[in-house]
Amino acid sequence: MTVYCATGNPGKLREFRLAAQQFGFEIQELPDIAQLPPCDETGRTFEDNAVLKARYYGVHAPGVLFTDDSGLEVDALDGAPGVISARYAGPGATDALNNTLLLGNMRGRENRCARFVCVIALTNRGELLRTFRAAVEGEILETPRGAGGFGYDPLFYYPPYHRSLAEVSLEEKMAVSHRGKALTALFRYLSELPAMR
Ligand code: IMP
Repeated sequence: MTVYCATGNPGKLREFRLAAQQFGFEIQELPDIAQLPPCDETGRTFEDNAVLKARYYGVHAPGVLFTDDSGLEVDALDGAPGVISARYAGPGATDALNNTLLLGNMRGRENRCARFVCVIALTNRGELLRTFRAAVEGEILETPRGAGGFGYDPLFYYPPYHRSLAEVSLEEKMAVSHRGKALTALFRYLSELPAMR
């Protein structure tokens, strides 16, 4: 079965495809997405933004569509960058700029606890079916480590692996990550909906 997604982030798309494949689903990007003005992410929570995006793009999909809103919450920064993780260093910021700003803001901080959060919203022809939330706990490193992953992965140390999420394989990341767990819940849900198979 084909499930549509709406994302401009190639790192997320790789992870969507890997999870879908494990459950026998095929992921397709919404065909018209490049023609649509981007959805304004004006929500205050990951849930708000995931649902905003899913409703906005979902009406253009011929079936089920999901969106992912995700980000990094750092305890010492009162939960920042949070919902503005993608644009922490300003509109259109690159991962490198966001990481540099985060490192600067974390200089001298003893409490390095942080988590990635992912909320997936699922719609059927624009109607909201459900949301799925998951998180992974870790620590912010003092210097980047590893060349894999995307976004803040080189700064996110995952204690059980003794490595950053940019130093592990995609499969290892997905087994424990916020997105891996939210996608597993999504595809389990879809597998159990008789009308969707
Ligand atoms: P969104 O596209 O508004 O959901 O923004 C997500 C942003 O959060 C990304 O651009 C990254 O900066 C960050 N982020 C979310 N998930 C991850 C991840 O798995 N690894 C690293 N950074 C992530």
